[in-house]
Amino acid sequence: MNKIIMGGQWGDEGKGKIVDLISKNVNVVARYQGGANAGHTVYSNGKKLVLHQVPSGILQDDCICILGNGMVIDPVELCSEIKELEELNFSTSNIYISPNAHIVTPLHKAIDLKNEDSAKNKIGTTGKGIGPTYVDKYNRKGIRAIDLLNENKLKNQLEKRLGIALDKNEVAKDFSHDNDAFNVFYNSCEYIGKYIKNIYPIMHDQDSKILVEGAQGALLDIDHGTYPYVTSSNPTIGGISSGLGIPTTKFNEIIGIFKAYVTRVGNGPFPTELFDKTGETIQNIGKEFGATTGRPRRCGWFDSVAANYSIKLNGINQVVLTKLDILSEFNIIKICTSYKNDEKESNDYSEFMNSLDDINPNYQEFKGWNCDISNINSYNDLPNNAKIYIEYIQNILDTKIAIISVGPKRNQVIEL
Ligand code: IMP
Repeated sequence: MNKIIMGGQWGDEGKGKIVDLISKNVNVVARYQGGANAGHTVYSNGKKLVLHQVPSGILQDDCICILGNGMVIDPVELCSEIKELEELNFSTSNIYISPNAHIVTPLHKAIDLKNEDSAKNKIGTTGKGIGPTYVDKYNRKGIRAIDLLNENKLKNQLEKRLGIALDKNEVAKDFSHDNDAFNVFYNSCEYIGKYIKNIYPIMHDQDSKILVEGAQGALLDIDHGTYPYVTSSNPTIGGISSGLGIPTTKFNEIIGIFKAYVTRVGNGPFPTELFDKTGETIQNIGKEFGATTGRPRRCGWFDSVAANYSIKLNGINQVVLTKLDILSEFNIIKICTSYKNDEKESNDYSEFMNSLDDINPNYQEFKGWNCDISNINSYNDLPNNAKIYIEYIQNILDTKIAIISVGPKRNQVIEL
């Protein structure tokens, strides 16, 4: 059977490393939503690599890497990612781009930036053109990967769309398609043409052992997240059937990645956010700076209320807990167990999901373990206080913790 890996929080949970680890046992890794807004950090032969659109399975020999129809693909960024992989001697011939995936153009990026500039309540987007590209898709005015195969048609489509954008004041009046950014764009479109191939036969081949790789996280989902401070796609499980054309009945392992604390980049509610020295320390030791934009990530304690919501939404049946080593620094560690406002207290996230700015978290406190755990490979060797913390999370989430990550390298994991 097939597996799914998805972020259980607000993204940046460390999915790349876990996909890389688990993709040893599969022959297809597929992405179903988002685009270059993602940044999956992986290490190969000691070298740090940040993958934005190519699935992390690319590091495994002979693994087919699918960019699904639910994605919005930026040809320029994809081109430089592919070239970087080739320079590192990774074969890229197994990359498949769904002909139905939508295309991010320089125009969409300009609209994204202008929207953010002029908004009163800024979302804090990555500026990668994600929202505007999905708007065109759902407005049935989008440019799809298949359109890249006919340059004249592509140029006509883009010219028409630019006319609309200028009329509607979506971009500055002097925005023109006759510039360097568009030349680079057209060259990149030509370059990635050879990767545009039918994905359905692979997705439905009996011999395919598929790992589906989510980007962003459940709480950034357009339907179930902290709207409007969300991304414009469905990182939750529903996005998989539409974004890859495969029913979720084909999957039996649904692996949710959770950091041992919580981070968020961009704006929007964050119940357990720390505004003090502790938050700053987590940020520094955890190197909590966005892999795509370099922005500092906001940091807070583990939130079991939000995590339980994610688990229910997605049917997560295995948890991976990442960056546990970062908490080694602290004497006291906290886990949020319920939310309360003036009227009630509850551990049901859905009761508060539209008023998260008005709640206070209740915490359970734990003693820290105050020692380096980054070289430990067996659960039994962990300090007792770390085991208490892990077991508490496993119990409160009522879900098996399958892997604990204790450092950035491939081998810094504890499998349970
Ligand atoms: P967009 O996806 O660029 O439109 O940004 C919408 C929101 O999602 C912003 O708060 C971003 O910071 C956040 N976001 C988008 N992609 C990621 C990601 O890969 N990790 C974490 N946050 C993300």
